[in-house]
Amino acid sequence: MRVQVPLEKAYRLINHGPATLVTSKADGRANVMAAAWVSPLDSALVSAVISNDSLTREFIERSGEFALSLPTVGLVDAVYRSGSLSGRDGDKFAAAGLATFPASKVAAPLIEGCVGWLECRLRDESRAREKYDLLIADVVAAWADATVYRDGQWRFEGQPDKRTLHHVSKGVFLASGEVVEASTD
Ligand SMILES: Cc1cc2nc3c(=O)[nH]c(=O)nc-3n(C[C@H](O)[C@H](O)[C@H](O)COP(=O)(O)O)c2cc1C
Repeated sequence: MRVQVPLEKAYRLINHGPATLVTSKADGRANVMAAAWVSPLDSALVSAVISNDSLTREFIERSGEFALSLPTVGLVDAVYRSGSLSGRDGDKFAAAGLATFPASKVAAPLIEGCVGWLECRLRDESRAREKYDLLIADVVAAWADATVYRDGQWRFEGQPDKRTLHHVSKGVFLASGEVVEASTD
C-alpha cells in the first residue's frame, strides 16, 4: 500500500539531510537561524535556500559570507528556537542558549557543541537568489569533531548525544542512525 503525498509536502520525502544552524554577521552584529534546505553541489560548493525576509539573508547579502554548524540531538530545542524566532527581535544566541567561537576565514561565528562546521563565501549567482532564494557558496574551510568524524566519515556509534539532527516537520526531527555498509565485492 502507498499513500499519496501532496505536492506541497513532497520535499519532506527527501528532506532529511542534516539540519544546520546558519550563522551570519554584518556591521559587527551576528545572527543564527535553523536551515534544513542546505545541500552539497560539489565537493566544496553548497546551496542553501534562505528566505529573503530573514535577517540572515540580509546579513549574508551584506557580508557575502556565512557559516554552517551541524547541531546534535542535545541542541534540538536550540535549533527549533533559532528557527522560530527572528534576530530582528533580539539576540537569538542568548534566546536559544547557543555559545560561539570564531571561524577561521569568515566573520560569522561557529556554534559550540556542534559536530561539523563549514565556512562559506557567497557566489555571485543573483538570478538563483532572486528567483528561488537559492544561495550558492564556496566552502572555504571545513571542520569536524574528531570523536565522531574518523577516517573521512561520520562514525556516531557509541556517541548517541553527538548524532546529527534531520528535520521532519515543525519541531520533529530524526537523529542520524546506524551505519549500514554495502558489500564492495
Ligand atoms: C528546523 C527548521 C529548519 C528551517 N529551515 C529553513 C530553511 O532551510 N530555509 C529558510 O529560509 N528558513 C528555514 N527555517 C525558518 C528560519 O529558521 C526562520 O525563518 C528564522 O526565524 C529566520 O531567522 P532570522 O530572521 O533571524 O534570520 C527553518 C526553521 C526550522 C525550525
